[in-house]
Amino acid sequence: MVVIGAGVAGLSAALAVASAGHDVTLVTKAELVESNTYHAQGGIAAAIFADDDPKLHAQDTMAAGHGLCEPKAVEILTREGVDRVREFAAAGVRFDRDAEGHMLRGLEAAHCRARVVHAGGDATGRVLELDVAAMVRTNPRIHIIEHAFLEDLVLRDGVIAGVRLLTKSGSDVLAADRVILATGGAGRMYPYTTNPQVATADGLAAALRAGAETADLEFYQFHPTAMAVGEHFLVSEAVRGEGAVLLDEHGERYMTRIDPRAELAPRDVVARENFRVMQRQNGRPVMLDVSPMAREHPDLAAFLSRRFPTIDAYTRSLGFDWSREPIPVAPAAHYYMGGIRTDLNGRASIPGLYAAGECARTGVMGSNRLASNSLLEGLVFGRRAGLAAVADGRDSIWHPVPFANSATGKPSGEQPVTLAVPATDDRTDPSDAWDRGHIEAAMWHGVGVLRDADGLRTAVRRLGEGLALANADAGPDHGVDSSYDEQTHRLENRNMLTVGYVAANAALARTESRGAHARTDCSEPRDEWAHSVAYRMPLQ
Ligand code: SIN
Repeated sequence: MVVIGAGVAGLSAALAVASAGHDVTLVTKAELVESNTYHAQGGIAAAIFADDDPKLHAQDTMAAGHGLCEPKAVEILTREGVDRVREFAAAGVRFDRDAEGHMLRGLEAAHCRARVVHAGGDATGRVLELDVAAMVRTNPRIHIIEHAFLEDLVLRDGVIAGVRLLTKSGSDVLAADRVILATGGAGRMYPYTTNPQVATADGLAAALRAGAETADLEFYQFHPTAMAVGEHFLVSEAVRGEGAVLLDEHGERYMTRIDPRAELAPRDVVARENFRVMQRQNGRPVMLDVSPMAREHPDLAAFLSRRFPTIDAYTRSLGFDWSREPIPVAPAAHYYMGGIRTDLNGRASIPGLYAAGECARTGVMGSNRLASNSLLEGLVFGRRAGLAAVADGRDSIWHPVPFANSATGKPSGEQPVTLAVPATDDRTDPSDAWDRGHIEAAMWHGVGVLRDADGLRTAVRRLGEGLALANADAGPDHGVDSSYDEQTHRLENRNMLTVGYVAANAALARTESRGAHARTDCSEPRDEWAHSVAYRMPLQ
């Protein structure tokens, strides 16, 4: 049994396998704790407080997802999420608590209750990752392999037989009849992202190359507020939850004109409006103003450094004192709603393959993820995938929830759309099409916050050219003379070209606007599109 990826989904999966009395190998391409989880700030949404109910949390999740959430998956997420958060709190995860020991909570966009528990102020992911990684490290059934890169899944007779891993000593197959992919996100496809360097779509691309079904790849979430200078550092939604407002360059508050929930409208709405205001300002950033918090917290500087220590330190390192002046922010790529299509127990379409966390499409995110549901998804569905992998027999198959049209309730086409792998175009300069900047430009301009058919067609062509070259260049002898870092960089680029190519095609095909997929040439949602679409690539 192998788990690939060491964010909260991978750690949860490994712990579940071990708790069922089985050995498991946990593989990660970097150090154990480096992951999207580690960089998550706001917290974990869970209906654990007396004024709340998992049903209310489910309603908020479904509303934010604009008709594409699977109700059963959301019900599991919100109900079992309560148990997982309580369990990890009891096991010693250091959630923030008041003087009496009660867990503290914050409000975030589109939640009807303050239900976001946090740790280290605004360092929830870091605390969670470190605390759960410590449990994994001391578990004798979990064997950790760091700095091993997933090159590809290995199939025999259409069934999982292992993984091909690249390490500093070369490339080798690790045999396994169950593989759980928990490889996280793909933010590095974009030039402006809150994601760390490791978020390069590796598991999702390997699953596509192996012929697995994926879904919802046109839905990429842009966070409304990353720092517009420096490294696009995330400025948590929890900051707006505490009362911060958004201003244009004239100091005017604009979100009140767009949505009755203003800055706490769902994330897709706020990100889009920030983007539009920036377009009107010739690209200059919008401003986040925390001064309204001073009404409740007169010593604002002290409050900010206590409640948001990470953001406080980062903004100050750039020379801003946000207790006195607004800070420049802009939308940035943040989270992939789409991914490897799974059933409610993490099974993918290839027998023996499972997926959990950001690389999976369980159906809980729909077309727009509700804030602070991602760590929760990793905890709930990571465990489910681990337990299913242990319980399943060799001939177990997945039981995906059929896609339905959320407007009509009628089942929608289940036939996955198969995309041809483009042929190499001899006219393209390989060094250019392979380049990270080529991918970033194609994704940001074509498959970004606002899209249209012309931009998407250009993205399909450019990403397709790059992918053809990448595939042609990825033979068995490829890169043997280059260093591990050079080889993994090229493989990461190939992975992002693979996923970006499918995402651009999926976005071109969806001729409507819904959730995070906003098209200026088809600006309304259309009932006939109120369902998910599965994509896969032919076997290489
Ligand atoms: C944030 O803190 O704003 C990010 C949390 C999330 O993406 O759910």
